[in-house]
Amino acid sequence: MLSKFLQKMMTKEQTIKILRNLDSQEIDEIFKKADQVREKIFQDEVHLRAIIEISNFCVKDCVYCGLNKKNTKLQRYRMEQDEILKAAEKAASFGFKTIVIQSGEDPLISSDFVGQTISKIKQKFDVAVTLSLGERKIGDFEKWKELGADRYLLKFETSDLALYKKTHPSMKKVANNRIQLLKKLKEIGYEAGSGIMVGLPFQNYESLVEDLFLMSELDLDMIAIGPYIPHKETLFSRYLDKIEIKEIEKTTLLLISLARILNPTANIPSTTALSVLDPEEGRVMGLKCGANVIMPDLTPEPYKSMYEIYDGKTKSKEWDICEQEKLLSALRSIGRKPSLTKGFRKKLH
Ligand code: 5AD
Repeated sequence: MLSKFLQKMMTKEQTIKILRNLDSQEIDEIFKKADQVREKIFQDEVHLRAIIEISNFCVKDCVYCGLNKKNTKLQRYRMEQDEILKAAEKAASFGFKTIVIQSGEDPLISSDFVGQTISKIKQKFDVAVTLSLGERKIGDFEKWKELGADRYLLKFETSDLALYKKTHPSMKKVANNRIQLLKKLKEIGYEAGSGIMVGLPFQNYESLVEDLFLMSELDLDMIAIGPYIPHKETLFSRYLDKIEIKEIEKTTLLLISLARILNPTANIPSTTALSVLDPEEGRVMGLKCGANVIMPDLTPEPYKSMYEIYDGKTKSKEWDICEQEKLLSALRSIGRKPSLTKGFRKKLH
C-alpha cells in the first residue's frame, strides 16, 4: 500500500492519514524515498543561498510574526545600499552563488532603490539574486526582473482561507492574493518560490495537505516548509493551546519529504526555523529528508538581531569563517558538498 502511495498515487485522504498517524516505519520509508529522489536529481550537491535582511519595517499585521506592525517593542531598521553591497560582497567571498534580498513588507523601500541594488550586485558579483520583499506592484516585479533579478520568494503561508483571515485580521480580501501573484511572477519569468508554516494555532491536517497539493499544482521552483515558532509579542503566542498539529518538527520533515516526492526537481530548503527548533540536528535532518538547499543569514549586526520573526531566531552568531566551517563540516558528515553553480531549477527532458 505504502509503496504504491510513494509511486505517486498519493491521495489527499491517504496523506492526511499518514500525517496524523506518524507511524515510524511508514515515515522512515517516506524519508528514505524522498532522499533517493533528491539524490537522483542533485547527487551530493547542496545549494547555499545567503540571506540579507535589508529592512524589518512591515505594514502587515500577521499575528504569528514578530515583525508585525503592531509590535512597538521592536526597534526598526532599513539598511543603506552600501551596507547591503558590503554584505553581498562578504557572501560572494564566502562562495555563495545566490544572494537573497529579504525584508518585511516595506513600501518605503523604493522600487528604484531595489532596482539599483539588483543592478549593482549583478555587476559586481557572479551570483543569482532572489527577492523576498512581499507583495509589490506588478510593475515593480517586471522592472526588477529586467534589471537582473532571477527569483522571487513569496510564501502564501496557508491555503486555508479561514486560517488566512485569522492570521491577517486587517486584510479585507476574500482570497489569498499571493497565489495569484505567484502565477504572475512565473509569467514575468522569475523562478517562483513559496511555502508554508507548519503547526500554526487552528491549523489542521486537512489544510496542510491542501497546501502540499497546491504547492505541487503551482509547479513551484522553490518550496519552503518550516515549523511555526511562537514570538512573545504576537497574538498567536497566546493561542498555543489551539495548536492541533502534533510533533511539529517531525510533521515538517514529513511534509518536506512529501514535497520532494511530488516535486523531484524543485529546490527545497532545510528551513532556518527547523534549525532554530532543533539547533543540533534540524538543518541536517532537513537535508536527509529531501531538502537540497541551506539559506544562512548573512545580515550584519546590529540588524541581524533586530530581524526577529520568532523567538530565538537571533541567537545564532554573525556569519564568519567559523560558522562557514561548521556548515561545511555538517554537510561533509552526511556526504554532501556545496554546489559551485547558481542552482537554478533543473529541467528534466
Ligand atoms: N514562525 C515561523 N516562521 C515565521 N515566519 C514569520 N513568523 C514566523 C513564525 N512565528 C516566516 C513566514 C513569513 C516569513 C517572514 O517568516 O514564512 O513569510
